[in-house]
Amino acid sequence: MSKTIIIYGSTTGNTEIISEEIKKGLEKGGKDVTIKNVINADINELSNYDLILLGCSTWGLGELQDDFQPFYGEMAVEHFKGKNVAVFGTGDSDMYPDTFCEAVKILEDKLKECEAEIIADSFTVDGDTENFQNAAEAWGLKLAKMI
Ligand SMILES: Cc1cc2nc3c(=O)[nH]c(=O)nc-3n(C[C@H](O)[C@H](O)[C@H](O)COP(=O)(O)O)c2cc1C
Repeated sequence: MSKTIIIYGSTTGNTEIISEEIKKGLEKGGKDVTIKNVINADINELSNYDLILLGCSTWGLGELQDDFQPFYGEMAVEHFKGKNVAVFGTGDSDMYPDTFCEAVKILEDKLKECEAEIIADSFTVDGDTENFQNAAEAWGLKLAKMI
């Protein structure tokens, strides 16, 4: 069975909740899914997976969530070249319209540098939205059907 890993960084739990919903969608699509907080993730384990999803909220003014910084610093071609990847994240479009979900763009730019295959548009959502579950699960299912 095709193996997927979701690695997320989340300070107040919003991106963690989204990650669980995306996992449900992937599993409905027949994927074997491992989910890890980025603080427990090892960049060298990525080679074991067919699809890598990175999820990160945006903090500061358009910055990566704190826990994601060390992982980001390690990201290199050797880990991502030719790998199927996609990125998701939460933000706040009312309070931070100019930097809404900027962390997702930062990660996508890095993945392009690392020669990864970004297989789908990112999934971004306001962290305090109540009904994101269906959309997050649907995004996971869509990805499952793509690889
Ligand atoms: C101090 C602070 C700075 C933030 N900066 C941004 C930002 O620049 N862009 C954005 O889209 N959201 C920003 N947010 C909103 C968070 O990204 C949002 O609440 C998110 O859902 C948090 O997810 P997490 O609980 O997974 O960390 C900020 C929130 C706080 C409290």
